[in-house]
Amino acid sequence: MEENYQCESKTEGKPIRCKAAVCRKAGEALVIEEIEVAPPKAWEVRIKILCTSLCHTDVTFWKLNAGPAAAFPRIFGHEAVGVVESVGENVEEVKHGDRVLPVFNSECGECRDCKSAKSNICTKFPFSHYNGMPRDGSSRFKDSNGMDLHHFLFVSSFSEYTVVDIADVVKISSDIPVDKACLLSCGVSTGVGAAWKVADVEQGSTVAIFGLGAVGLAVAEGARQRGASKIIGVDLNPEKFEIGQQFGVTDFINPTYCSQKSVVEVIQEMTDGGADYCFECIGLASLMQDAINSSRPGWGKTVVLGVEMHGSPLSINSGQILRGRTVTGSMFGGVKTKTDIPFFVKKYLHNELNLEGFVTHEISFQDINQAFDLLREGKSIRCIIWMDK
Ligand SMILES: NC(=O)c1ccc[n+]([C@@H]2O[C@H](COP(=O)([O-])OP(=O)(O)OC[C@H]3O[C@@H](n4cnc5c(N)ncnc54)[C@H](O)[C@@H]3O)[C@@H](O)[C@H]2O)c1
Ligand SMILES: [Zn+2]
Ligand SMILES: [Zn+2]
Repeated sequence: MEENYQCESKTEGKPIRCKAAVCRKAGEALVIEEIEVAPPKAWEVRIKILCTSLCHTDVTFWKLNAGPAAAFPRIFGHEAVGVVESVGENVEEVKHGDRVLPVFNSECGECRDCKSAKSNICTKFPFSHYNGMPRDGSSRFKDSNGMDLHHFLFVSSFSEYTVVDIADVVKISSDIPVDKACLLSCGVSTGVGAAWKVADVEQGSTVAIFGLGAVGLAVAEGARQRGASKIIGVDLNPEKFEIGQQFGVTDFINPTYCSQKSVVEVIQEMTDGGADYCFECIGLASLMQDAINSSRPGWGKTVVLGVEMHGSPLSINSGQILRGRTVTGSMFGGVKTKTDIPFFVKKYLHNELNLEGFVTHEISFQDINQAFDLLREGKSIRCIIWMDK
């Protein structure tokens, strides 16, 4: 059923004063502040956020206190859905009132990568500017003292309004409920895309997933839809098995209780020599190694999705890959923002993609810090943060 979310048009061309959850210092609670959001420049879209959720990548960057990616004060948030408030010059693809997802992974449609079916890594807008707008690195946010606030991953959805480049916006049908649409803006698309597009899991195959958060559970959902015969979930949190079963997880390994054998040995035994497809959805180099070693010699493929929490390098024993294993990493599960997300929406609307069960909590914007606590304590899968409720 279509939900009716409107957005005023009187604000077009003017700065908007609104509330945003600002992170002033690494690891500190966000503070709701009044900020000013500039009108969109050429190729840009100003979006009224309806709801947003917290992905583990926000937490990883929120904790980061050194290096060029540690930019504060900053507006985090990159998984969201909204309505177009106004557009800048040259934007014809969307208009005031359209339901859209802002997405960190650009699709300019013109570069060599965007034109190739082999890649979803747009080379026109690489990640070098992700503290600001993708074309010039500048900010569209000012605090009440007139100081610039940094963007995050081209989205910055922890704000009632945000400005996003048209290369990072996809128009979606308003038939999909907004909380389900929000999931497709990062974590769930990443997991489903990794199973469908990167691994291309086929009927009867065996799958091992390290980490059953939203990304890992979405991998399970994608593998289940493809008819995988065994889907093994590895997680330290025992509660993840019950929820995993809703997404097709058939077997569960809790590393805490693997004293006699290693997790790798247990997976090798369960899969008669190694899983056909392994996915790392946690963000620890040691577990990326375990995933690779759990994959089957000859044809096993490992997809690394986790963002390494400590920036540690991944070292691979060449003997493991000489025996025919393949390892790949993937941003956004190989998903092309404008090409693939409307397809995922259709799959959901045709009951061919289960998005129920990912949303475990819902809170209002002013309580946003609770979403951090819930995710870090392993209590939530996705917590929907409503801007207006
Ligand atoms: N590649 C991409 O484009 C992309 C997109 C979204 C998220 N990510 C990354 O994917 C990862 C997962 O994100 P999420 O939002 O699903 O996170 P999450 O916090 O919801 O899930 C992580 C899961 O891993 C489990 N876990 C943590 N440490 C573990 C350990 N040592 N052994 C076993 N299990 C362990 C937790 O219990 C939890 O269930 C993060 O690294 C995130 O940054 C990558
Ligand atoms: Zn994310
Ligand atoms: Zn491109």
